[in-house]
Amino acid sequence: MARRNKVTVVGAGNVGATAAHWIASKELADVVLVDIVEGVPQGKALDLAQAAPIDGFDVKLVGANSYEETAGSDVVIITAGLPRKPGMSRDDLLKTNSDIVGSVTDQVAKYSPDSFLIIVSNPLDAMAQVAFRRSGFPKNRVIGMAGVLDSARMRCFLAEALDVSVENVTAFVLGGHGDTMVPLPRYSTCAGIPVTELLPEDKLNKIIDRTANGGAEIVGLLKTGSAFYAPSLGAVEMTESILKDKKKILPCAVFLEGEYGINDLFVGVPVKLGRNGVEQIIEISLTNDERSALQKSAAAVQELVDVLGI
Ligand code: NAI
Ligand code: 2OP
Repeated sequence: MARRNKVTVVGAGNVGATAAHWIASKELADVVLVDIVEGVPQGKALDLAQAAPIDGFDVKLVGANSYEETAGSDVVIITAGLPRKPGMSRDDLLKTNSDIVGSVTDQVAKYSPDSFLIIVSNPLDAMAQVAFRRSGFPKNRVIGMAGVLDSARMRCFLAEALDVSVENVTAFVLGGHGDTMVPLPRYSTCAGIPVTELLPEDKLNKIIDRTANGGAEIVGLLKTGSAFYAPSLGAVEMTESILKDKKKILPCAVFLEGEYGINDLFVGVPVKLGRNGVEQIIEISLTNDERSALQKSAAAVQELVDVLGI
């Protein structure tokens, strides 16, 4: 009998519950939603299950406070942790979230030893490194979500400035998920035309700046939490590319061993995602300025990893 795909989402807060929603409505997989707060994952899973007859998706949704139900998951999306509050940097979350992501990873690795891990918790690149070290999984099975979100933000701003469909616009963002991320207009296009041909430098610089501060802009508006619609869909796009073996090229945080001159560190670069997880790391040529911006961004991630001693 054909077996349905199974995805566990750890953390049933804003990002996790919304990820479960996108997965169900796309009918990608059965979903187990896990959280430490009693009743919340169960309640949200039940509510989503009751939306199924209206939308017509046939997936099983279960909520839990422990990991038995998650056994044998194909993909596990980790969103557990604390979100940023106004005035708080992603890095302030370092210690608390590393303890949370570490203990969650232990459970996930025990019950789903063959799964692919997609990490969302912040600070993203360091948390992906925590999950990688704690799980002992090979590097093709531990992937951080940030570049899909950051480049979607840039695409949104570019489409608005060009007054064109978002579907026409691609964008490229490299580096760590922080203020030092590296949006690359040279590799961003509108209908195949580099945006550097279509927008003046001052406008592009404003878009680059708004992209790098895209998370803080939303925190400033929401005041009680951070973005979740686009982040959760970013994780689901990666999940879909793996489950359906789509082999999409997406910017993801992956463990680099010499690529881009970076060693033993999770940093965002373009990768091919298919049924074997990270199937290829794509190295593009960079100008001296772009390369040094990427090195600076990697150094910011390295500082966090050094604090954690991982
Ligand atoms: P949230 O506060 O709405 O949800 C987090 C959930 O994690 C809560 O329900 C909490 O009870 C749960 N949790 C805490 N400790 C846990 C544990 N040990 N086991 C299971 N569940 C646990 O936060 P939100 O908005 O969903 O954000 C989640 C994380 O994702 C944050 O760290 C946030 O900074 C990060 N994030 C990362 C993005 C990225 O681009 N990588 C984008 C957006 C958010
Ligand atoms: C974001 O970029 C908070 O990392 C999160 O929205």
